Amino acid sequence: MIPAMRPVIIAANWKMHTDPTTAGQLAVAIAGASETPLVVRVICPPFVCLDAVGRALAGRDVAVGAQNVHAEEAGAYTGEVAAGMLVGLASWAIIGHSERRRDEGETDELIGRKLRRCLDHGLRPILCVGEQLSDREAGRATAVVRGQLAAVLASFAAQAAAGPAAGGTLEDGLVIAYEPVWAIGTGRTASGADAAEMADVIRGALEAAGWSARAAEAVPVLYGGSVTSAAIGEFLAEPAIDGALVGGASLKVDEMAGIVARAGLTAAARLAAGTMRPVETGS
Ligand code: PGA
Repeated sequence: MIPAMRPVIIAANWKMHTDPTTAGQLAVAIAGASETPLVVRVICPPFVCLDAVGRALAGRDVAVGAQNVHAEEAGAYTGEVAAGMLVGLASWAIIGHSERRRDEGETDELIGRKLRRCLDHGLRPILCVGEQLSDREAGRATAVVRGQLAAVLASFAAQAAAGPAAGGTLEDGLVIAYEPVWAIGTGRTASGADAAEMADVIRGALEAAGWSARAAEAVPVLYGGSVTSAAIGEFLAEPAIDGALVGGASLKVDEMAGIVARAGLTAAARLAAGTMRPVETGS
């Protein structure tokens, strides 16, 4: 089969850190310390910092993403942010992060509807999936992730009743982050081999949901969970893994410089081998 030519992506999830007066400076420092034409870089600050980060990064090849969107288009949802409000502020969005599944009770059904909102407003979704420690210990990790994807995609498909998404198909832009819940913020990572196995499971689940093998192969799968500059190599050594969603380490300039530099080596090797698509400016 012709290689899928996926890009290498490093996405920073700043979670509930930084503020509008400091976020721009941090973003510029990270952008300057991690310059490379080979890696797609995305920074996802809190909503209130999107404008500051976007302005600070103007002219730099770093995309800005949100950490969430609401599942509805608009309405009486106090304190919430709709995908359409992010136009001009963000071009990516993290969807279904395990902290939101845990703290806000987000379900796969809700997450499927959020995906639809992303497509309607031209936001490229990074969909998070991952098992609990008890699932892994019980040998259920792959079944759980397969089940999450099946349910999210079924919910997304149910939205087709409302007409096709304005921004094209999920096949065009979906990125999936495999984030084992027990590895997030714990300093404990999965193994590269486990992450690669899960990437295969994820692409298999897309096919099971009716995607062509070619479309499933083309979906970038990132690893997330305690990624650092020291830990990233093990994951990028796996051809099935296309980058990382980085939390804690993404607030540290030196760490991000190291992570992106390591990703750049992988990207250069994949480009030379003809298995990676060159990065499109502004992606
Ligand atoms: P972490 O978070 O790198 O701090 O473990 C990753 C994430 O939650 O996306």
